[in-house]
Amino acid sequence: MCGIIGAASSRSVGKILVNGLKKMEYRGYDSAGLVLNNESEAIQLKTLGKVANLEDLMIEKKPRAQSGIAHTRWATHGEPSQKNAHPHTSNGTIYIVHNGIIENHDELRERLSNDGYKIESETDSELIAHLIHSNKENGKSTLEALIEATKALDGAYSIAVIDTEQNGKIFAAKQKSPLLVGRGIEENFVASDPLAIAGLSESFYLLEDGDFAVITQDEIKIFGSDGEGVSREETIIDTRVKEVSKDGYKHFMEKEIYEQPKAIANAIEGRTTEGDVLDNIFGLGSSESFNRVKRIQFVACGTSLHAAKTARKWFEELCETPCYIDFASEYRYRNPLVEDDTLFVCISQSGETADTMAALNYAKEEKYLGIVTICNVPTSTMARESDWKIFTNAGPEIGVASTKAFTTQLAALMLLACSISKSKDINGEKRAEAIEDLVNTPALVKEAFGLKKHIDDIVEKIADKKNALYLGRGVYFSIAQEGALKFKEITYIHAEAYPAGELKHGPLALVDETTPVVALAPEDELVEKLVSNLEEVKSRGGTLYVFGNATSKIKIEKGKFMNMPDCGYYNAPIVYTIPLQILAYEVACSIGTDLDQPRNLAKSVTVE
Ligand code: AGP
Repeated sequence: MCGIIGAASSRSVGKILVNGLKKMEYRGYDSAGLVLNNESEAIQLKTLGKVANLEDLMIEKKPRAQSGIAHTRWATHGEPSQKNAHPHTSNGTIYIVHNGIIENHDELRERLSNDGYKIESETDSELIAHLIHSNKENGKSTLEALIEATKALDGAYSIAVIDTEQNGKIFAAKQKSPLLVGRGIEENFVASDPLAIAGLSESFYLLEDGDFAVITQDEIKIFGSDGEGVSREETIIDTRVKEVSKDGYKHFMEKEIYEQPKAIANAIEGRTTEGDVLDNIFGLGSSESFNRVKRIQFVACGTSLHAAKTARKWFEELCETPCYIDFASEYRYRNPLVEDDTLFVCISQSGETADTMAALNYAKEEKYLGIVTICNVPTSTMARESDWKIFTNAGPEIGVASTKAFTTQLAALMLLACSISKSKDINGEKRAEAIEDLVNTPALVKEAFGLKKHIDDIVEKIADKKNALYLGRGVYFSIAQEGALKFKEITYIHAEAYPAGELKHGPLALVDETTPVVALAPEDELVEKLVSNLEEVKSRGGTLYVFGNATSKIKIEKGKFMNMPDCGYYNAPIVYTIPLQILAYEVACSIGTDLDQPRNLAKSVTVE
């Protein structure tokens, strides 16, 4: 996901722009750039790699200007390079930064080349600058030229523009990629994330699809696509809270792992009472509508999808409701059959993931009972586009690898299952057990942190391996999937999860004495079968690292058995996630990867 920030101020904005980009570094990027618009000229600086490189260039050049735009790029069209970095310009008068994907870029490239434009980069974004310039050449004002340019675009975009002939102004446009306007003191801002202007503004206007904005240091104007003024509700966000630091931890991911007891407590707080969920915690009318739910369609990506897979059993048991679960990127292409009284549920930490957002937009055209979003960002597009929602209240998650987002999503999904069960007035006893387990979860998660001392003993034994297998049965297979994803995305070691019973149907061929096999072995109805699956690994010389209950029957010759806290039936999957997060983190630390910003990854993937 690219980061955008623009500022029009009574003071020089260079530092504001660079600091804003630094606060968005967690989103992942490969290059950064800015352009400053002052009386005499536009000063454009671009660098590859970290924002610190751009900062160094700023210190060297010392440019001063009272308005400008800046961008961190996560490459989608064209490799990471100086020429592909934003801002892009047309004829040195129009400069743009863009987040999103323009799907008809080939057609536009051909049209603009035929019109005589020399296209310098491989990006789709540069074409926007030429479209605006071309419209201005045809006599339109800068705002009209921007509005006209967006009519030629198919796809998603949030755009900020400066025109050297309109000093002190920033123009913006929003369609399917997040963009907001922030009001400061003698200065105003545009940004793709409130975090970028944390501490500079608390008063925001969240632009909607089809909105345009023109800001100066004194004024904010918002327009519709007809060029007529529109009013958007002012949203107050305490961005000082958005200011995040590592609080003494080595990495954001480490901090976010150990924040989970508090984060899970926050996800539950104010939503349960005396052993049951409160009514309408997903929004007005939700409890009344939920008693009609006959089926649930989940869509999500990555870790958020694993949350849905883990929660499926809770919905079947507590709500007697079958669940369909799709990768968001696959969902709408399979032409899903939508049966009556099916609830559509999106799960997303960022609330901006393009694949999930696209699935939500598809669902809005179908006859679902309603759309629920479970996300961690109240100002996100998904939250705004849904009928009902619940915020996980985990606090900003900066590490690209999701940790507290996952466990708080599971808490929120448990609340959803209980809400539907209550609305249907079924399984009251099981629901009370689920709520009791949920309320006890933070303390058990804290107890699970004690496993770190055992995990420290095995880190070096795994850190030099090339592959790892993760095994679980039942609901613990999706926890194993989440553990394998954590492991691979921050250690860069290939890790794959399998249902333990599936091993003998092929994957067992991977097992030899060099293969670490991580297994989840709670004392449940499947433990006997799991024991025999692990015997298959032992007999091939595989090394077993097993997280389970003390009374388990598993005898380990090579590897280690690590005792898990005694959990409740409903909270065990959440608690069993913790050692897998710690294992991934400690191995990545040992290897020395940039684990808060793993290579090739972004925190929120706003491109399909
Ligand atoms: C998981 O650690 C990754 N960060 C990634 O799989 C992530 O879960 C996925 O991109 C979905 O993001 P979202 O929850 O913000 O929609």
